[in-house]
Amino acid sequence: MKKLFSEFSIKNVKIKNRICVPPMVVGFSPDGYVAPENVERYKKLAQGGAGLIIQEATCINADGRLSSKQLGIWEDGQIEGLKTIVDTVHKENCAIFIQIHHAGVVGISEAPLCPSAYEYKNPLKTVVGREMTIEDIKSIQNDYIKAARRAYEAGYDGIELHGCHGYLISQFLNKRVNKRTDAYGKNPENFVTEILEGIRKVTPEEFVVGIRLGGFEPTVEDGLHHAKVLKANGIDFLDISYGFFNELEMNAPEGYKFSNAVYAAEEIKKEVSVPIFAVDGIYSAENAEDILTETNVDLVDIGRGFLINPNWANDAKESKDTGKCLKCAKCMWFSQSKVCAGKVVFERNNK
Ligand SMILES: Cc1cc2nc3c(=O)[nH]c(=O)nc-3n(C[C@H](O)[C@H](O)[C@H](O)COP(=O)(O)O)c2cc1C
Repeated sequence: MKKLFSEFSIKNVKIKNRICVPPMVVGFSPDGYVAPENVERYKKLAQGGAGLIIQEATCINADGRLSSKQLGIWEDGQIEGLKTIVDTVHKENCAIFIQIHHAGVVGISEAPLCPSAYEYKNPLKTVVGREMTIEDIKSIQNDYIKAARRAYEAGYDGIELHGCHGYLISQFLNKRVNKRTDAYGKNPENFVTEILEGIRKVTPEEFVVGIRLGGFEPTVEDGLHHAKVLKANGIDFLDISYGFFNELEMNAPEGYKFSNAVYAAEEIKKEVSVPIFAVDGIYSAENAEDILTETNVDLVDIGRGFLINPNWANDAKESKDTGKCLKCAKCMWFSQSKVCAGKVVFERNNK
């Protein structure tokens, strides 16, 4: 596990190993403010030995929420609670970024926004997003910028823009969703690069600003193009995942050894020289090490692995059982974390 437990840095942020806990909304906040359960959760994750935690998708405005229990960073009053999470994680010698998020058409808003009037079919109903005016665009970009300033004030080591999984930035970047004919349709990355430019004006140069980007948005060629444009505009890292789930065209070669998302990360790493994170289905230390050495990505995200076993990294270092996700049709952590079958099996085997 030579590479997995080697140090890494992004700007001035020292990361003690290559293990990142990616953002995962688990849902405790009744009002967007940090609850004691949030702090407890991040304390446990930090004690589990990861080098970096990216805090769950935290909303830049209340109307852009994905769930009513989501954490928020839309007003200054929220900074104090967020600072508690940061201080708790730092005490455990772990770096922390925060993912900042707006759900766009896939959120819980009664009148959701979208780059263009996209019809989104969720399991309960069909929603049509209202096409954003230029004023809407400027206002939401400003919300991202203000959220980033609050994140800096709360003491985070950096931020991650949530730019994938079908949320607002992903809706801009995916040409099957964004049908605008203006500059935000012709060069959809403008939506993000203008946010980035605004963030640089309100935070110091050394503050890390990265993005979680769809490697397939809808194809890997698009993902690679977006990555190149963002690199040219000074992005500090790229965390490569899936794009807009309903609109993907995944084209990893048949028989590719790792997941589609890892393939996209590998392809982007070949051509874009910024730190790259890879994710999806990485549960064992051996698999994590193989991905790091064979694809040349810089960090691995271990998501459900840490939900099943918050001590994942320490256990991996000691060659212990790290647990196994049983890949339920719908991950129970979205609703009833207490019945996660992988966690039950892991705890039974490791009493
Ligand atoms: C309960 C849960 C919540 C999640 N919330 C987020 C989120 O807030 N932001 C995000 O970018 N991805 C989110 N994800 C996706 C994970 O970060 C990760 O990409 C995904 O679980 C695949 O990695 P894994 O196979 O290691 O679990 C979530 C996943 C789960 C299971």
